[in-house]
Amino acid sequence: MDALDLSLLPQEIVVANERFPAELAACSDLDALNRLKGVYTGREGSFAVKLMEKLKSAPKERKRDLGAAINSLKSTWEEALKAKQVDLEGMKKSLEAAKNLWDTTLPPPVPPMGALHPLDRLMARLVEVFRPLGYHVEEGPEVETEEHNFDGLNIPEDHSARGTADTFYLAAHPQLLLRTHTSPVQVRVLKRLATELEKRNGIRFLAPGRVYRKDEIDPTHSPMFHQVEGMLVGKGIGMHHLKGTLAYAMKALFGEGADVRFRPSYFPFVEPGSEMDVRCPLCGGAGCRVCKGSGWVEILGAGLIHPNVLRFAGIDPDIWSGFAFGMGVERTAMMVSQTPDLRLFFENDQRFLKLMGGLD
Ligand code: DAH
Repeated sequence: MDALDLSLLPQEIVVANERFPAELAACSDLDALNRLKGVYTGREGSFAVKLMEKLKSAPKERKRDLGAAINSLKSTWEEALKAKQVDLEGMKKSLEAAKNLWDTTLPPPVPPMGALHPLDRLMARLVEVFRPLGYHVEEGPEVETEEHNFDGLNIPEDHSARGTADTFYLAAHPQLLLRTHTSPVQVRVLKRLATELEKRNGIRFLAPGRVYRKDEIDPTHSPMFHQVEGMLVGKGIGMHHLKGTLAYAMKALFGEGADVRFRPSYFPFVEPGSEMDVRCPLCGGAGCRVCKGSGWVEILGAGLIHPNVLRFAGIDPDIWSGFAFGMGVERTAMMVSQTPDLRLFFENDQRFLKLMGGLD
């Protein structure tokens, strides 16, 4: 067909035709499109109707050319309107489909709640057991100096624990190490509070935390584990205070029936030194796999603070005395939860952690 000869058409319609593409693009829904359709191609009063009237009243000899121009214009409008309608209908359908994906009346999904790790819970429980006895919580850094980790604890220069076979020293700073126990917190606290002992009427604290040793990983060893250190400084403190305190704490932790026993042992920072066992909470002392048939499980080291430890911190051992203890957290957790493999505490398998919810 020949190019549209617009000169044959009324001015009003030529102007409308120029506006048409923009008006069509502005239609964002089917209602708007239908209104536009009415204006251009509707049965009454539309531009198309006006054009047909124009054609009717045109002189005979012009009818052919004018008719062709009008038809061409009308079908251009119709096609464009139809294409836009298909577009908008498609859009409406996908919007409705998306709406049906969601049932907005349902309550939202609740994400699983986090919780304290079983080892943290056990340490927190110990803190709560000792809090009413006047113990507060102290912390020390995991990267320590030899002074705090060894020297201040009366550990001799040639002690095997100082060797690189047992202890992680920092490659870039060989005078620093990863603390091998929580006992260096004793040294820090004693030094800090040495001059305030009278005013404070002594010291009592608990120091839970991570410690590191060069141990191969196996069911009962890990190069990183946890301890809770405890310390009391006062006047005239003896083994009876230590025993009474720990016996009370173990009853609070394991139940009224908990029984403890002390065996002589050696740690450079206490004198006398001892290890404390609790009667096996699993078999009640009859003997089982956990207590290896003995009826008792070792749970901590303890003793009366060595005078050299007090002296190192600037405290007079002729006036002050005290006791200290260091408890293995994994060991205790394994026992109370009957967990045979310590690695379970570090793998953080959700199923295990859920099961351990009962540890409280
Ligand atoms: N620090 C010792 C260890 O890591 C445990 C210990 C023993 C701590 C006796 C003490 C203590 O405070 O008095 O094996």
